[in-house]
Amino acid sequence: MQNKSVFILAIESSCDDTAAAVLHNDKVLSNVVANQLIHQQYGGVIPELASRAHQQNIVPVIDAALKKAGVKKEQLNAIAFTQGPGLMGSLLVGSSFAKSLAMSLQIPLIAVNHMHAHILAHYIDEDGYDKPTFPFLALTISGGHTQIVKVNAFFDLEIIGETTDDAVGEAFDKSAKILGLPYPGGPLIDKYAQLGNPKAFSFTKPKVPNLDFSFSGLKTQILYFIQKKVDENPNFIDENLNDICASIQNIIIEILMDKLKLAIASTGINQIAIGGGVSANSGIRKTLKEAEAKYGWKTFVPKFEYTTDNAAMIGIVGYQKYLSEHFETQNVISKARIEF
Ligand code: KG4
Ligand code: ZN
Repeated sequence: MQNKSVFILAIESSCDDTAAAVLHNDKVLSNVVANQLIHQQYGGVIPELASRAHQQNIVPVIDAALKKAGVKKEQLNAIAFTQGPGLMGSLLVGSSFAKSLAMSLQIPLIAVNHMHAHILAHYIDEDGYDKPTFPFLALTISGGHTQIVKVNAFFDLEIIGETTDDAVGEAFDKSAKILGLPYPGGPLIDKYAQLGNPKAFSFTKPKVPNLDFSFSGLKTQILYFIQKKVDENPNFIDENLNDICASIQNIIIEILMDKLKLAIASTGINQIAIGGGVSANSGIRKTLKEAEAKYGWKTFVPKFEYTTDNAAMIGIVGYQKYLSEHFETQNVISKARIEF
């Protein structure tokens, strides 16, 4: 089926972004995301509100993706949707819509693992983007996930390290909350960190064996540190915000880099591809680029719109599954937790 011209509509609704994309083979024709701002006032994602917002957004978002791509639904060859992992109420909105549309158009239905999609996002065909070759290591860092995956082939993936508690994005967001910054605080920590001294305050790294991560102890450490400093000086946060953010970002980057070095040493693979919302972090991007010259690594950082939650990445897995005729029946179920 390699030479066939394939149009795929992809739908992503695993958390708090309603997204739809249209792909022509491995090229993205449209990639539409509706962010749910409602969660900002609660300081985190409220599952019940997320599924309601998906209900409101899904039709306009899919409509916009088709229009932007200039593709009529009758031209579609398959519908791909996120099967999991994610919030059940959110996943069900996307999967129900995908099933109904695939049934009415009488075209194949393709279920996609969201984490698999974050990794294969590197295979979206973009001018000037050099794709990793197999095998490579994927570092997936977002608000919900932190994993190091050994990717041997499109459908041969092995998790070799993951968080035992909080995800990296939570470490950023929870630290930001302690500092009184709004949700999601990751981008703000990044912004202030650029103006601060990363060595101003030191935090200790968690001791986690092998390639696994832990971030909940770091959050507690930051909380106690800030409480103590604010007791001594109520203006401590305002007076030191840039340095605090730079120091928090620095320790998080050191934790990630230590595990990457270990993963490279134990696998002998030195191609690192990053994905997930946290890979937008300027400090992480800079450190990885520097590692190319410093350690001879080859690093892959996709376009920003393909690293945060999006449907184009669901579409690229959909395309690979289409080529290998990996289709689902209408009985397929959404899964809050799912393996590769
Ligand atoms: O992949 P994503 O959009 O959604 C999922 O969690 O799946 O990732 C969102 C996470 C949030 O925790 C957010 O604070 C973090 O990515 N994030 C950042 C930056 N931009 C987004 N963290 C640090 N620095 C950034 N520049
Ligand atoms: Zn994600």
